[in-house]
Amino acid sequence: LNPVKVGLLGLGTVGGGTINVLQRNAQEISRRAGRGIVVTHASARDLTKPRLCHTDGITLTTEPFDVINDPNVDIIAELIGGTTLAKELVLKAINNGKHVVTANKALIALHGNEIFAAAQQKGVMVAFEAAVAGGIPIIKAIREGLTGNQIAWLAGIINGTSNFILSEMRDKGRDFADVLNEAQRLGYAEADPTFDVEGIDAGHKLTILASIAFGIPLQFDKVYTEGITQITREDVGYAEELGYRIKLLGIAKRTEKGIELRVHPTFIPVQHLIANVNGVMNAIVVRGDAVGQTLYYGAGAGADPTASAVVADLVDVVRMLTTDPENHVPHLAFQANALSNVAILPIS
Ligand code: NAP
Ligand code: HSE
Repeated sequence: LNPVKVGLLGLGTVGGGTINVLQRNAQEISRRAGRGIVVTHASARDLTKPRLCHTDGITLTTEPFDVINDPNVDIIAELIGGTTLAKELVLKAINNGKHVVTANKALIALHGNEIFAAAQQKGVMVAFEAAVAGGIPIIKAIREGLTGNQIAWLAGIINGTSNFILSEMRDKGRDFADVLNEAQRLGYAEADPTFDVEGIDAGHKLTILASIAFGIPLQFDKVYTEGITQITREDVGYAEELGYRIKLLGIAKRTEKGIELRVHPTFIPVQHLIANVNGVMNAIVVRGDAVGQTLYYGAGAGADPTASAVVADLVDVVRMLTTDPENHVPHLAFQANALSNVAILPIS
């Protein structure tokens, strides 16, 4: 079989990492997918910028629509970010009958309902493992591994940048602004880093996790969000003296009245596992009625870890194309919307 051809939109941290992982692990990936996967086309704003990856043999353009409209491209990987151009591109790609992989949590949290409906109509897949918790396969874990459970709640550290800032403030007494600059340099932060430090990025991810865990539509506007911008080095130090660590948590909980969705800084006893998740690492605890508590831990941002999740989605799409091209379903479908009438309660 010929390799499956991927058109990559964006050659930044995640796009560069994705090309690197696909090239470095080409043999294993091809064996596991049942077919080779190659990036044949890619777009970026400035083609003269130095890149994290080699782009030899890839057709480069500054016009992402050229990639979307190219009949030779089988799968689009949207790694640009933002919600305006990205939404247009993804809907157009779906309309062109292309499968889509994206790392864009803002796009899925805000426009996922419309995107999945379009994908369902066209019979194409939209996969987004990289949108939540970087390299941790948390979407797969909840959707597949815990599929026999009623999820009672999930809670965790789902923004690497803010966890990196809180950890460095505590361990090295560094300034908030200084650590945020470093997170930007390392490629962890969002294009607009207020999304990281104001809890918005974690809110986007929580919206996605809750929709999968509880079978509800995506409703970002129902998430209470509070970030870490008001937290000082002194606060972090006092918390430690009292035996607590401050962590920005995303929490989704099933209650008798509905589902509660919130992101805010939380005091966690220092002996708790989550209190010891440092730097850019993420960790999520999920409680299912059958399995009890489960814990997922790993790098929440960065080129290679996020690429790991993008490539996993590409392999999923290729396996589906290879084994069952006539009978596949789009990736989300909200597990039959079982709980779509449950009210989502913002906390006051
Ligand atoms: P990035 O490093 O800023 O890369 C964005 C890429 O998109 C760049 O190559 C840029 O081109 C291109 N681009 C941006 N705006 C464009 C436009 N208007 N038209 C055409 N191309 C455009 O961003 P990133 O960190 O890779 O993030 C990409 C996506 O992955 C975002 O949705 C982000 O939330 C998500 N994500 C990121 C991480 C992470 O650790 N960074 C982890 C998980 C998910 P130029 O390079 O020429 O400027
Ligand atoms: N800016 C995000 C973070 C990238 O720091 O967690 C990973 O989604």
